[in-house]
This record gives sequence, structure tokens and C-alpha cells, in this order.
Amino acid sequence: MSAKLIAVLPGDGIGPEIMAEAVKVLQALDLDLQLETAPVGGAAYEASGHPLPDTTLNLAKKADAVLFGAVGDWKYDKLERALRPEQAILGLRKHLGLFANFRPALCYEQLTHASSLKPELVAGLDILILRELTGDIYFGTPRGRRTAVDGHFPGAEEAFDTMRYSRPEIERIAHLAFQAARKRRGKVTSVDKANVLETSQLWKDVVTEVHQQYADVQLDHMYVDNAAMQLVKAPKAFDVIVTGNLFGDILSDEAAMLTGSIGMLPSASLDKNGKGLYEPSHGSAPDIAGKGVANPLATILSAAMMLRYTLNQPAQADRIEAAVQAVLAQGLRTGDIWSEGTTKVGTREMGDAVVGMIKTTPITK
Ligand code: IPM
Ligand code: MN
Repeated sequence: MSAKLIAVLPGDGIGPEIMAEAVKVLQALDLDLQLETAPVGGAAYEASGHPLPDTTLNLAKKADAVLFGAVGDWKYDKLERALRPEQAILGLRKHLGLFANFRPALCYEQLTHASSLKPELVAGLDILILRELTGDIYFGTPRGRRTAVDGHFPGAEEAFDTMRYSRPEIERIAHLAFQAARKRRGKVTSVDKANVLETSQLWKDVVTEVHQQYADVQLDHMYVDNAAMQLVKAPKAFDVIVTGNLFGDILSDEAAMLTGSIGMLPSASLDKNGKGLYEPSHGSAPDIAGKGVANPLATILSAAMMLRYTLNQPAQADRIEAAVQAVLAQGLRTGDIWSEGTTKVGTREMGDAVVGMIKTTPITK
């Protein structure tokens, strides 16, 4: 394998701390990786006046994969929208064509009690939210502000966004959902609001059509309000949930919280060729930034997803995931997942423990 170029974008808040641990873990694997770091989000705005500078975007485009920390801080809330840290991640998704966002929600055996739901509802929980990431109301045009000419208050200031989806956009994400379900428990729940929205009716029609090519997979449709309810009522009834950008944003946070440990959950955003951006599901947590207490495991597990999905190194991904499990089994916990009887460690100690486990565990495959 010739050296693979990884764009490392730590970002803001706890981003740099958790990224340092993921980088350490990657380096412990002795793979031929070339890691190149660039600023993104608020950090990039401070350095160069833009949250996604051309140098960073070009590095991300050139790289085989992108490892992303987190962006955002309240101190940028007053900036105009185009300069806010969040625009960095939205820009990367758009410019890299990262339309498929895989957000697994996995309840680790040792962390079952950390969920806000009763342990029996979440024990063994393993669901996959597949969120469409480059369409919908996030990117739909027209959008803007104007003076209303109709509606309830003509003449008043109003703002508008456009929810839109095209058939090919829905087809490609539907195929990925059915393919993912085949490797799991064979069930897809497509979530929409087809009782109200045209986009959702098209979504439902197209997913139903694509399903004809996957007769071995079970397909259900569910309205998003009901899905939000079922996720807290009987989350284990789901396998793969496929949905649009906005509903997926909301439901994936809900699903993450069910596991009680958003600090543990990785995610992958893939383009049509399998190139991807990998990031923890949590945000930049500015309140604990710089204190060395953040949980680096979601970022470390995102690096594992990168090895599995983009770099075709499943055995190395297994090594990382097994090391994380082993460290949890030893009782090591960062503050977010700590409980009576376990050992509280900081960000760096957690990373060191995973590296130590990798180095002392023989490779089995
Ligand atoms: C996420 C985040 C982003 C989103 C924000 C930061 C733009 O909430 O990745 O889920 O809404 O997609
Ligand atoms: Mn979100």
C-alpha cells in the first residue's frame, strides 16, 4: 500500500485534545499513513478569517480520508452565518459530496446503566441511523429573508428555507440503507413526514421502489414524530433507520443519548466512491475544553471506521475496537461515562490505555 494521506482537522473546543489521542492510536498501528493537520472551524476563522480556508478544503479534497474533531463555540454566535464554525462542516459535506452519513448508536455492555432509559430497554442496543447529508432543507434553495407579500402577515419581515429532494438523491441513499441492513439484521425503517410534505411523499415512493431490488430486506415506513416516540419506547425494535438530512440530525442525537454515552459514538460521512469524513457524533464541548477530561473514544472509534470503510483495513479497525472494549472492561472511564466502582481517567490516559492495549494484544488475523 502506498502511503495514504489523511487530512487531520482537529477544530475547536475539545477537538484538538481528542484528535491527539486518535492520532496516537493510528500511529501505534504501523500503517503507512501520512497525517497532515489543518485548521477548521473557529480555529481557522481566528487564523485566517474563514472557517473553511481554501488550504484546508484543498487538503481535504486531496486526502484519501478526513479525520475531523469538532467545531463551534458560543463566542462565534454573533458572526454572520457564512463565517460561523458550523459552515466548515457543512462546506466539507457539500464540496466533498459526502451524502451518506452513518451514525451507529451502540449501547456498550458496561455502560448500559448510563442511559436515561431503563437498562432492559437499551441493553444490547445496536441501531444504525443512515442520514442523507447533502440535500433537504439544509442546502435547498431558495432561502433567505424578505418582506412577505402573502401569508398570515403580508408586509412583515419573513425568512424561508426550501426542503427539496430529487429522485437520484433518494435512490442512492436507499440503496446504501438496504445494503447496510443486509449485513445487519435485515430491517430498514424509512422515516418521513409523508402525511404532510411533498418531499416526504417522493422519499417514501422512491424508497419503496428501490426496495423491490432487496426482497430479502424488510422495509417499514414511519412518520418522524412517531419514530421519535418509538425510539424512546422500544429502541431495540429498529435496525437501520434511513431518513433525510433534518430528521436524521434530530433522530441521531436522540438515538445517541439512548446509549448514555454520546462520547463513545463515531460517525462516517461517505461520498459515492467510499471516500469519507470521520468524526465523533458529539460536539466541541467548549465548557470542558482544555481541561483534559473529554472522552477521546468516539474519535478513536471514528479512526477505526475510517480504516474499515475507506482504507480497507478491517483487521486494523477490529484491533482498535477490541482495544476500546478491553479498556472499558478494565474499568477505565472518562468523566462522562464514569460510575461508582470504575476508575476515572483523563483524555490522555484513556488514549494511552488504548495504545497500550493495541501494542500488547497480538494480531489475530
Ligand atoms: C451534526 C451537527 C451539524 C448538523 C451542525 C453543526 C451544522 O449538528 O453534524 O449533526 O446539523 O448537521
Ligand atoms: Mn446534529
